[in-house]
Amino acid sequence: MPRTRPPTPTLPAADFLVIGSGVAGLRAAIGLNRAGRVLVLTKGSPAEGSSIYAQGGVAVAPEEDDIALHRDDTVRAGKGLCRPEAVQVLVEEGPARVQELIRWGARFDRAGDGYALAREAAHSRHRILRAGGDATGTEMVRVLLERARSLPQIAWRDHHFTIDLLLDPHGRCVGALVLDESSGAVKQVRAKAVVLATGGAGQIYARTTNPPVATGDGIAMAYRAGALVEDMEFVQFHPTALYLPATPQLLLTEAMRGEGAVLRNIKGEVFMKRYHEMAEMAPRDIVSRAIWNEMVATSARHVYLDVTHLDPGFIRSRFPTIYATCLRYDVDITEEMVPVCPSAHFMMGGVWTDTRGATSVPGLFAAGEVACAGVHGANRLASNSLLEGLVFGARAAEAAAEYAGHLRPERGASFERDLAVGEAEDGRGDHLDMEKLLNSLRRLMWEQVGIIRSGQRLLSALTQLEKWEERLRDPCRTRRELEVRNMVTVGRLVTTAALQREHSLGAHFRSDHPEEFGSGWERHIHLQANASARAPVGGAGVTE
Ligand code: FAD
Ligand code: SIN
Repeated sequence: MPRTRPPTPTLPAADFLVIGSGVAGLRAAIGLNRAGRVLVLTKGSPAEGSSIYAQGGVAVAPEEDDIALHRDDTVRAGKGLCRPEAVQVLVEEGPARVQELIRWGARFDRAGDGYALAREAAHSRHRILRAGGDATGTEMVRVLLERARSLPQIAWRDHHFTIDLLLDPHGRCVGALVLDESSGAVKQVRAKAVVLATGGAGQIYARTTNPPVATGDGIAMAYRAGALVEDMEFVQFHPTALYLPATPQLLLTEAMRGEGAVLRNIKGEVFMKRYHEMAEMAPRDIVSRAIWNEMVATSARHVYLDVTHLDPGFIRSRFPTIYATCLRYDVDITEEMVPVCPSAHFMMGGVWTDTRGATSVPGLFAAGEVACAGVHGANRLASNSLLEGLVFGARAAEAAAEYAGHLRPERGASFERDLAVGEAEDGRGDHLDMEKLLNSLRRLMWEQVGIIRSGQRLLSALTQLEKWEERLRDPCRTRRELEVRNMVTVGRLVTTAALQREHSLGAHFRSDHPEEFGSGWERHIHLQANASARAPVGGAGVTE
C-alpha cells in the first residue's frame, strides 16, 4: 500500500498561471503582467523548449499588400483545413507583434537599409525574418525572457513539472498540480485562469527535431481535464534532419534549400523534380515523402543534402550554427554532402481553441504549438509557428485577463483542497521499465504512425497503445513516468485520429487511401475524454 506524507505547502497564489516558457508562454506572461500576479512554470530550465532551436525564421508580411498573399499561402499549405478567421488574425496581427519584439530589442538580420528576407517552401514571396543567420529562436527567446524578467508582476518557477490541471466541481480550470523537481514535492497552484503553452510532442517519435521537453504534456493533461482536442493526425515531418549514428537529430533548415541546396539519393542522383515541379521548394510533406520513397527504393536510411556547389564563405556566414555543429560531428558541409532523413517536427493538431486562445474548458486558455487554433490546417507553412506563438500568446493573455475580470472576487480563492502524496514503495510490484517502454513507443509511432500510414498498421499500433495506457493507469511518481504516460496518451490520440481520417490530406498520408480530399475531407477530427474517462483532479499519483 502506498504510504502518505503530509500535504506540501502550496506555491504562492497567482491570479494567472502560465505553463511553459517558450515564445507563446513568454508572450502570454508579458501580456498578463498588467492584469494581475502571474506565475510562469516550466519544466527544466526557462529557455529549454523548441523555440530556442528555431532556425529558419519568422514569417511576416513585409508590406501591407503581402498580408493577403501570406494568408493565401497559409491556407494553401493547410490544404483548405485552416480556419479562415484564425489565419486572418495571424497574418494581420503578426506584423505588429514582430514590430513590438523589435522595439523590445530583437536584432533581426539586415540587408542594406532593410531587413534581410528569405523565402521558404510554399511561400510565394520573400517574407522570412531571421536572426544570427540560423538562430532566430534564440534571439526571440532572449528578448522575450529579458522583457518578462523585467516585469514586477511575473514570478518564475523552473524545474516545476505540471502534472495535471485542477478543476473545480463545475468543471472550470482553477490551477494546476505541480511536481517540484528539486524537492520531489507535489504542490497545487491555484489561479483564476491558466494559459497552457507547453509546446509540441515530437518526442513520441523515434526521429524528431524536437528537444527532450517536447513530450506532449499539455495536450495529455488538457485531454484528461476534458478539453476538446482537434486534428491530432496532422504531424509535420521535416525533410532534413542530420542522420549520423549517435548524434542529435540536428535540423538542417529549409532555408538551405531556399539558398540552393539540393537533395540527392545515396547514388548521388537529384530526384525532387520527379516528384514536384517546385523540386526542393515543394511543400514539406511532399519533400518528406519523396525522400522516404528514395530511401526505400535505394534501401538506404538517409539521403543527402548537398551545398558543396555553393560558396563556402556564404554557407559559413549564412548558416553559422549548422556549419559549426556539423563540423563538431566531423562533417564539413562546405566540402561534403550531409546525410539527412525526415523527422517529426511539428504538431499541427492540439488543444482546440477559438481565436482568442480559449479552450473548451472554462478558465483554460492555450497558445503556441500545444494549441490547435486553426491556423495550420493539414500542413503548416514554414516559419508560421513562431508568429503563431507571438500572436496567440498575446491573445490568450487578453482573453484570460478578461475571463478573470468577470469572476466574482472570491472565486479565485474558493478552491481549497489539501493533498497527500502517494509515495512509491521500493521495488514496485509491476515494475515498468520506463525507458524500455519509451523506446518501444517511439519506434512504434515512427514505424506505424509515421510519414506513410495504413489502416492495418494504425489499428495494430492502437491496440498496443491501449495496452500501454492501461498499464500506466497506476499512479506515476517521477517526472519521467509522468512524461511517458503523457506520450502514450498523445500517441494514442494521433493514432485514433489517423484511423478516423480515411483519406490522405497534407501531412497525413494513408497508403491504403492515397487520394486527397476523400469524402468528408473538410471535417475536423475532434477527440474528447468522456466524463467517465476523465481523470479525477490530481489523478496523477496523488491521493486525497
Ligand atoms: P516551446 O518553445 O516548445 O516551449 C514549451 C515550454 O513548455 C517549455 O518551456 C517547456 O519546458 C514547457 N513545458 C512542457 N511541458 C511542461 C510541463 N509538463 N510542465 C511545465 N512546463 C512544461 N518555427 C518557426 O516558425 N520558424 C522556424 O524557423 C522554426 N524552426 C524550428 C526548428 C526546430 C529545431 C524546431 C524543433 C522547431 C522549429 N519551429 C520553427 C517550430 C517552433 O519553434 C515551435 O513550434 C515553437 O517555438 C513552439 O513554441 P511554444 O512556445 O509553443 O513551445
Ligand atoms: C526550418 O528552418 O526549416 C524550420 C522552419 C519551420 O519549422 O517553420
